Amino acid sequence: MAYLTVALAKGRLAKDTLARLRQAGMAEAVDMNSRKLVFRDEKDGIEYLLVKPVDVVTYVDKGVADIGVVGKDIILEQDLDVYELLDLQFGICAFAVAGFPGTELYGPEKVLKIATKFPNITKKYFAGKREIETTYLNGSVELAPLMNMSDCIVDLVETGGTLKENGLVVLEKMFDIQAKIIGNRTSYQFCHEKIQTFLAAVESEVDDNATDYSWE
Ligand code: PRP
Repeated sequence: MAYLTVALAKGRLAKDTLARLRQAGMAEAVDMNSRKLVFRDEKDGIEYLLVKPVDVVTYVDKGVADIGVVGKDIILEQDLDVYELLDLQFGICAFAVAGFPGTELYGPEKVLKIATKFPNITKKYFAGKREIETTYLNGSVELAPLMNMSDCIVDLVETGGTLKENGLVVLEKMFDIQAKIIGNRTSYQFCHEKIQTFLAAVESEVDDNATDYSWE
C-alpha cells in the first residue's frame, strides 16, 4: 500500500499536534511517549514519522515525507523549498529581541552582539537596520546576556516566563508565528487527493484564536 507519509515534530508542538489530528479522527496509532519512530494507520493509509522539529522541513523537502507539521520558526530558519499548506492556529508565539531592560538596540555601539538559535532569521531581520554579530546557541539562549556573552537575544517568546525568571524583557517584538502543515512540491502534485483529504479533515477542526500575549 502506498502510504501518505506525514512527519510530526516532537517537543513543544507534539501534544497539540496529536490532539488536533485525533479531533480530526486520525493518528490513532501514534504514541508520542514511545521510543518508536514510525507509526502506521492502516485504516487511513497514513504513515507518521516522529522527528525533531528542525528535521521536519528536511524530510519534507527531500520527499521522504509528503507533508509535515512544524512551527513557522523552523520553516523560516531552514528556508527550504516547501509549500506552506495550512495554518494550524496553535503553537502560537512571537519572535522577539530580548535583553536587560533599557538595552539600547539602535545605540552608538558599533556591533550589536546577539545570541540566538535562529541566526538566519536574525540576520535577515537586522539587514540594513543595524550591524550585528550572531552567536549560535542550541538552547537556553537567555543565559547569554546574563553571562555578558551577548547584548541581547533573538528568541521565541510564548508566556514570557523564561525571560521574566531571568530578569530579561522583550525589547522589540519581531513577528508572530504558529504551527503549519507543509508539503513537498512533487508530492503535492502526485498525491494531491490524499493530501487534500488530510488537509480538509484537519482544517475542519481549526479555530481562529486571537493572538493575545500576557507580556505585551
Ligand atoms: C523556548 C524558547 C524560550 C522559551 C520561551 O525554549 O527558546 O527559551 O521556550 O517560552 P516562554 O515565553 O513560555 O517562557 P524551549 O523551551 O524550547 O527550550 P530551549 O531553551 O532549550 O530551546
